[in-house]
Amino acid sequence: MEIIHISAECYPVAKVGGLADVVGALPKYQNKLGHIAKVVVPAYDTKFIRESEFEVTYDAWANYGNNHFQYRILKEKTNKLGFDLYLVHIQGLTDRPNVYGYGDDTERFVAFQIATLDWIVQWEHRPDVIHCHDHHTGLIPFMVSNSVKYKPISSVPTVLTIHNAQYQGQFGWDKLYYLPAFDLWKGGLLGWDDAINPLASAIKCAWKVTTVSPTYLEEMMGQARGLESLLRQELWKSVGILNGIDNEVWNPETDPMLSKGYNLKTVEAGKLANKKALCDVFQLDSSKPLFTFIGRLVDEKGADILPDIFYTALQQHGDNINVLVLGSGDSWVEGRLNQLKDFFGGRYNAYIGYNEQVSHQMYAGADFLIMPSRVEPCGLNQLYALRYGTVPIVRRVGGLRDTVIDIGDNGFGICHDQTSIWDVTHSINRAVAFYNDKKAFKAVRKTMMKIDHSWDRAALNYIELYQNLK
Ligand code: ADP
Ligand code: GLC
Repeated sequence: MEIIHISAECYPVAKVGGLADVVGALPKYQNKLGHIAKVVVPAYDTKFIRESEFEVTYDAWANYGNNHFQYRILKEKTNKLGFDLYLVHIQGLTDRPNVYGYGDDTERFVAFQIATLDWIVQWEHRPDVIHCHDHHTGLIPFMVSNSVKYKPISSVPTVLTIHNAQYQGQFGWDKLYYLPAFDLWKGGLLGWDDAINPLASAIKCAWKVTTVSPTYLEEMMGQARGLESLLRQELWKSVGILNGIDNEVWNPETDPMLSKGYNLKTVEAGKLANKKALCDVFQLDSSKPLFTFIGRLVDEKGADILPDIFYTALQQHGDNINVLVLGSGDSWVEGRLNQLKDFFGGRYNAYIGYNEQVSHQMYAGADFLIMPSRVEPCGLNQLYALRYGTVPIVRRVGGLRDTVIDIGDNGFGICHDQTSIWDVTHSINRAVAFYNDKKAFKAVRKTMMKIDHSWDRAALNYIELYQNLK
């Protein structure tokens, strides 16, 4: 089968979070199964896109509304990713240093989707599936089935994967004219709650809808930022497929970003070497348990309560624990996390910003990784932690519920029910006691590292889903 993944992010050229990891890995594993999976993302102006590694394969003009624009399709030519990667370059729109966060994101992503379809519609052959990821590509299922211009590909099945329904990409009906002509009576397929809602439209129009964990699909029936009833209505075509991880990128034995590689047999010495290196850099005490947080500093991740959690835990446990944070997001959370350094120097530190290498070193050097998420459609951090022998401390929600079992139930993680300071500090207390039970702690590290979360299984689940569309 030929599958075209269309997304706003793809590791390693454009990453904000887990969406990039998924789109940078799933196609590789689908290709390994003998299919042809390609990826299309916007050409941002980031340091990860080296011009020398791309060649222009197509150059044309398109328009959204009255805006006429030139776009170029750049193909990655090194073949090192395990899939063909295409970038859509639109001067003045895609070529910005950040992926999101601009006042004209609507125009940027509408233009990206139109350019992508204009390019695909003139191919000599038809792909078997167009697989869209999140709201940035959410208008595609509607346009493919309803626009006069895309009639030649109107029978190509579209699939939507919802990575995060917190963001839906809504914009006003006054911009309806951005879209290529369609029968106006179909306009209802675009809307939800008095606005054009790309995520809602994709849920209505895609042939299949998937979520990145089974529990997230269930949770969305009750809580999905206003889309609950729509999801209930479209449940017949929806399924939750748990994400995998790219075992080639996330392998503690071969990971070039670590101070020392390790495997199941050498885990104790390996983790200690990485912990020491990390503690040297961040002035922490490697003889004490190391608690970490990695992620976007937003409410969804419970980041707003992190400063109070760490303040309470560091007060309670004195010199007996260390905490290290890596993240960026809400500026008041960043500020408070920075402030804690003044109170707890030598046992607390924070790296405010984005750093892929530091994240790998933390998964390897940490003892515990905390995820107090309010919403977690899947979560990849806990899967990386497991693979690197780091005990996840998670709230039982979404994909965290599907992947982490509490040590009290013969599992390998520490779980709590609420995103509250009390619940998380209680889990930290349990973690300290567990860390001191050396034999049990070592055994659990080995159990975690043996769990197979590679993409092999999920890549196949998606292929079966596409095949059933025929
Ligand atoms: P989300 O996509 O909601 O942010 P995930 O758990 O699915 O959450 O994925 C987050 C991904 O982003 C992981 O690969 C994680 O290591 C990475 N990440 C998040 N914040 C940072 C950061 N500040 N520096 C480096 N990597 C980060
Ligand atoms: C989203 C979700 C996260 C998930 C990721 C990849 O960003 O917030 O839970 O792991 O997408 O699917």
